[in-house]
Amino acid sequence: MENKIKNTGTATVTIGKDSYDLPIYQGSMGAPGIDVRSLYKQSGHFTFDPGYTSTCSTESQITFINGGEGQLLYRGYPIEQLAEKSTFLEVAYLLINGELPKREEFQNFSESITKHTMLHDSVENFFHGFRRDAHPMAMVCGTVGALSGFYHDDAHTTKDEARDIAIHRLIAKMPTIAARAYKYSVGQPHVYPTNSMSYAENFLNMCFSVPAEKYTVSPTIIRAMDKIFILHADHEQNASTSTVRLAGSSGANPYACIAAGVACLWGPSHGGANEACLNMLREIGTVDRIPEFIARAKDKSDPFRLMGFGHRVYKNFDPRSRVMQKVAHEVLDELDLNDPILDIAKELEKIALEDEYFVSKKLYPNVDFYSGIVLNALGFPTSMFTVLFALARTVGWISQWNEMLEDPTQRIGRPRQLYSGAVSRDYLDVDDRA
Ligand code: ACO
Repeated sequence: MENKIKNTGTATVTIGKDSYDLPIYQGSMGAPGIDVRSLYKQSGHFTFDPGYTSTCSTESQITFINGGEGQLLYRGYPIEQLAEKSTFLEVAYLLINGELPKREEFQNFSESITKHTMLHDSVENFFHGFRRDAHPMAMVCGTVGALSGFYHDDAHTTKDEARDIAIHRLIAKMPTIAARAYKYSVGQPHVYPTNSMSYAENFLNMCFSVPAEKYTVSPTIIRAMDKIFILHADHEQNASTSTVRLAGSSGANPYACIAAGVACLWGPSHGGANEACLNMLREIGTVDRIPEFIARAKDKSDPFRLMGFGHRVYKNFDPRSRVMQKVAHEVLDELDLNDPILDIAKELEKIALEDEYFVSKKLYPNVDFYSGIVLNALGFPTSMFTVLFALARTVGWISQWNEMLEDPTQRIGRPRQLYSGAVSRDYLDVDDRA
């Protein structure tokens, strides 16, 4: 990656009687950043930013979010246009390579992904090591990490071709692993990938076809699945992406890095929110109970939060939630389902968007508010929701990992701390301890 941020000025930090000049850098869009890299060396002071609310961890050219405007761009292209006009594989090419592919480039890329969809036969043994009731995210996390044992040379960190293969393998094998985890958890025989199918159709087929019956799925449903993958493909330096970058900064194996991303994504504040959101909508159950839950969300003494609402970066609206709301309608219409949960979701959204608490805190529905409803309609159990997110986000994780390795300014990630534990003291023999 060619570094493109520009030095546009100087910030002066005054600590006591001393002042320190720090360069200000500006990217092509978004807020500038003060370069504090030399601050500790110059002044002996760290910066303190738990949760990284004011810290850029890297320069990146992949994804841009303007939280105030509700804007999300992949390599400059608005998410709404990509969801409407592109396909997940094309978006994957774009995120990895920086440009939309020409026809032949796309053909070669798709063929390469298709060639890597099967898992080494021994990977099957890993699934059998899990209990049947293991969470599918546990299986995905363990199995992706286990791939590092199959592809363990370290050429991926230095050689372009080996790195490309690792990237293609991960994109190709994630649907197979995700579907295998699902089949294992429901006790059905696993279904091998079908390379004549599109990425989304193949995934649906691996999840829902059984040897006893022919499986067909409508183009609307395939397209909906593909759109869900596009919406989740990347989201700049979120918790799981930062985890992948941090793991990769030590030169770790890419499959192990992606397993680290899967682990981070699993939490209910991140990828687990769609599962938590659908559970919440089910718990609400009827429209007349909504005020009770709104009141709980506002009550500081109650840990309950309105799942699918709020976002660290979007303080206007999450553009993905609008696309997802449309997808929800398309899928429910296509399947002729009248899910009362959708009515509860729409009413909850309406009430919350008018409520002073949510308005003043700029809390809007995020992508997960509607995605659970769609995935439920498609036939996925809630435990699979975060797995689908991980499948799609693998493209973003691996693009960011690749960019990091190509960044000449990249160093091992190593945050510091403000230590507030016990001060230095001598060891006491057991009989001398108070
Ligand atoms: N319901 C009720 N109140 C909320 C909610 C919510 N969903 N989200 C934030 N708030 C309140 C907080 O209590 C806090 O209030 P205070 O200032 O009076 O203390 C204020 O809004 C700011 O919230 P923070 O937790 O400081 O915001 P942060 O940026 O750290 O958290 C997060 C963002 C984790 C997404 C949060 O909004 C949340 O927990 N939402 C529900 C979970 C969810 O939907 N996560 C999915 C995120 S999108 C994704 O990962 C794809």
